[in-house]
Amino acid sequence: MEQEKSKITAIVLAAGKGSRMNMDIPKQYLLVEDKPVMVYSLECFEKSGINDIILVVNDADISFCQNEIVDKYNISKVSKIVGGGVNRYDSVKKGLDAAKGTDFVLIHDAARPFLTNKIITDSINAVKQFGACTVGVPVKDTIKVVDTKGFGEDTPDRSKLWQVQTPQSFRYLDLQKAYQIMESTKDTDITDDTMIIERYLGKKTKVIMGDYRNIKVTTKEDLLIMTGFLRG
Ligand code: CTP
Ligand code: MG
Repeated sequence: MEQEKSKITAIVLAAGKGSRMNMDIPKQYLLVEDKPVMVYSLECFEKSGINDIILVVNDADISFCQNEIVDKYNISKVSKIVGGGVNRYDSVKKGLDAAKGTDFVLIHDAARPFLTNKIITDSINAVKQFGACTVGVPVKDTIKVVDTKGFGEDTPDRSKLWQVQTPQSFRYLDLQKAYQIMESTKDTDITDDTMIIERYLGKKTKVIMGDYRNIKVTTKEDLLIMTGFLRG
């Protein structure tokens, strides 16, 4: 009998304010080489093997995103556009609620335009094999832990340090359960979903090679880097 095919959903997070970019509009809407930053990764998911995309945006931007992003750039895999929340993890929770019935989710920052088909394929293979995975890259710089007075406290072994990126991929039911447990705590230090899986389910996340180009556009200099990569 043919093996039943699992459903894979991308949750694309674009509900942030972009405060570190310090521009009039949130960074996901900035035009770089004539295209909004968020469209680059949406187009990559559109061409990939995933089944659908849930787009999470600020409540006030839902109809703008339907018209000026999804329709304009023909991102046909977007099945829902939902409003996000105050923190990134609130936005992930809203995306998860909208993704009921799927088997695997790939959570991706709309502010990472240099997603590739290889990253998506490798993530899908790894999440099917290991249950949870993130892409990342080995750090190039030495990293120091600095105390509150500004003095170096510790220098972790660089050979074990990776910078994590997105997509981060999970079994839907695992991530949903971990978020339910998290809601019963007062934790506010959560910066990504691998932390949630590790802390509340005690599960390990497989870290696979991403791409040094898969940057998160965060501050103004990142716009120059993005333009350089696009022209390069
Ligand atoms: N994000 C989100 N909902 C939030 C916060 C962030 O969907 N409440 C999204 C952002 O739109 C972005 C991704 O999560 O695509 C990564 O977050 P970050 O780079 O921190 O973006 P912002 O929060 O918008 O930027 P800043 O922290 O500088 O305000
Ligand atoms: Mg932020």
